[in-house]
Amino acid sequence: MLRPHRPSGVVLLCPGASLIGLVPSPRPSPIARVLGGIGDVEGAIRSDVTRKKVFSGIQPSGDIHIGNYMGALRNWVAMQDDYDTVYCVVDLHALTLPQVPAELRDARLRTAKILLASGIDPQRSLIYYQSEVPQHAELCWILGTLASIGHLSRMTQYKEKLDKGGQNLGLFSYPVLMAADILVHRVHAVPVGNDQTQHLEFTRDLVDRFNSRYGEYFPRPRQITPGVGARVMSLKEPTSKMSKSDPDASSRILVTDDADGIRRKIRRAVTDSGRRIVYDVARKPGISNLLDILAVFTGDSVEELADRHSASGYGKLKEVAADAVIAGLAPVRRAYLDLDDVDVERIMNAGAVEARRRTEQTMADVRELIGLPG
Ligand code: TYM
Repeated sequence: MLRPHRPSGVVLLCPGASLIGLVPSPRPSPIARVLGGIGDVEGAIRSDVTRKKVFSGIQPSGDIHIGNYMGALRNWVAMQDDYDTVYCVVDLHALTLPQVPAELRDARLRTAKILLASGIDPQRSLIYYQSEVPQHAELCWILGTLASIGHLSRMTQYKEKLDKGGQNLGLFSYPVLMAADILVHRVHAVPVGNDQTQHLEFTRDLVDRFNSRYGEYFPRPRQITPGVGARVMSLKEPTSKMSKSDPDASSRILVTDDADGIRRKIRRAVTDSGRRIVYDVARKPGISNLLDILAVFTGDSVEELADRHSASGYGKLKEVAADAVIAGLAPVRRAYLDLDDVDVERIMNAGAVEARRRTEQTMADVRELIGLPG
């Protein structure tokens, strides 16, 4: 029996930009409070059918940086108040680039810990590892039979990664698995940084193809992107995105960096010619990036900050930015260090059980729709 769903194309949320400001600075992690009562986790994960649904994922490749935090994680945390939220460590996606098995195992756990330490609350959000829920891969196969090869070969991230990892089919079909992640939960919205825009467009294209062939079933998911911090740039090359895979570790600030590390990296950040502080992404990409970072960690607007610091000089701006990032990330780092690996794996296992239950309902519908036994 198919469950009703909302018609596609509904405006579900105010523009993503409005989410900015909801979390001016990181909150203390609820997990720190949850730890005492972790035994309740299994019973606590529940889907609230009356709320709009949200899904997002993060790859456990390398370490999580403030680009991930500013573009995605802080919105994930904020959305827990109003949405039925599902967050996933997408370890199958990480396999599209070469991985050392032991390092991948560690990176999965570290990523899960960062999500929890940032404020993802397992009592309010479903959180799990993608590979433990095989329904993602099953839907990926089915959607793959509808996917346009032309569309897939135009994906910017695919073209960029070809140079790094060599060609493999997983890299090519990466967006199909991403669409499956989103659609297997039939969500309405996906909070991501703006590097995921093409993938979200591709997902909506697959929804249209599926729905027109088999009948309206999947909602068209909307992208939620913050107004500031949707594309945080490398500290070393401010015209390129801050990235987990950049070989230069000083190009990114990790969410778990200590105060000295954060200050050192910001002091050494590449800035622009001239001396005045203005927000001008084209002419002053380095300073504009620092202002974006400062804006997110203070809750002030970039215009206000540029005005306030216009005559401060680059060195002073860097100190102010370092102070704000250090203060903002301190609770996250503390919560991260306090987390116990065994507790975290229990949360992730309980999440996978619930995710299998929920996604199997979708898969039973999908199988029935396409002519396979449900
Ligand atoms: P990933 O792991 O590269 O990044 C996780 C999230 O962080 C955002 N992000 C950034 N935001 C601002 N500035 C940056 N420099 C920056 N770098 C990364 C990303 O936009 C993302 O929101 N394909 C996804 C993972 C994924 C997924 C999904 C996401 C798999 N399935 C389903 C949403 C829904 C990725 O590689 O994210």
